[in-house]
Amino acid sequence: MTKTEQEELLNIALEAADKAASFISEQAKMTLKVDFKGTTNLVTNADVSSEQIIMETICARFPDHQILTEEAGSIETGSDYLWVIDPIDGTTNFVHGYPFFAVSIAVCEREKPIVGVINHVHFGDVYSATAGGGAFCNGEPIAVSTTDSLKRGLLATGFSYEHDEIWSRNMDLFKNFTNLTQGVRRAGAASLDFCHVARGWLDGFWEYELNPWDMAAGAFIVQEAGGSVTKTDGSDFALFDREVLASNGHIHNAMLDQLKR
Ligand code: IPD
Ligand code: CA
Ligand code: CA
Repeated sequence: MTKTEQEELLNIALEAADKAASFISEQAKMTLKVDFKGTTNLVTNADVSSEQIIMETICARFPDHQILTEEAGSIETGSDYLWVIDPIDGTTNFVHGYPFFAVSIAVCEREKPIVGVINHVHFGDVYSATAGGGAFCNGEPIAVSTTDSLKRGLLATGFSYEHDEIWSRNMDLFKNFTNLTQGVRRAGAASLDFCHVARGWLDGFWEYELNPWDMAAGAFIVQEAGGSVTKTDGSDFALFDREVLASNGHIHNAMLDQLKR
């Protein structure tokens, strides 16, 4: 893939996220149709329509590419290129008018991310990255923090909709990390937790039971911003493995020590 081809993928990802974000902003002023995918797992008509807008934009330019999305499922074509889409990350926040929700789009080449875009709809912040090209917010380069100890760190996590054993274990970790750091935030949009690590507002973020569309763009943006991304046991991060530790790199091992206990 040439730099020009990568730029073209980035431009389509930016365009799709921008169109979806404009649509979502308008929807936020209207009465939403809210359905339940589980007891606490919400989906709205805006999630479904946002996904359609993104898919139409991609398919118009790259009709042969594969797509993995949260709401409507996948398009399998056998192409080397896979788009991974979360049409609204943070749907619960969106439904409540809490402004932490985003559009997340990644492009992978043979499962390796090469482009990531996250649009923080309410604040208009657009995060982006390309392989080897660094990470940006609104066109300005961003970088992870230099914090090198847990006791000076600010972290984030999230909790899945399933209130199972892993959820309960994460409650214990939440308590433990709150005790060891300057605090643990839980804003409810994994894509933005990654972005906030990438721009140095947060020093680390971990979560279990995530899906590829929650992680694809965000994990890549952290890596391109100079951070570290692994599984919570320190092994290599993989999109379909459902868990992640993303940090500024300096506190990665200290976080792993706690996560592995
Ligand atoms: C959710 C958010 C949340 C995380 C959940 C995700 P959704 O995505 O990213 O922060 O804790 O695990 O499912 O359902 O709002 O797209
Ligand atoms: Ca999500
Ligand atoms: Ca979603």
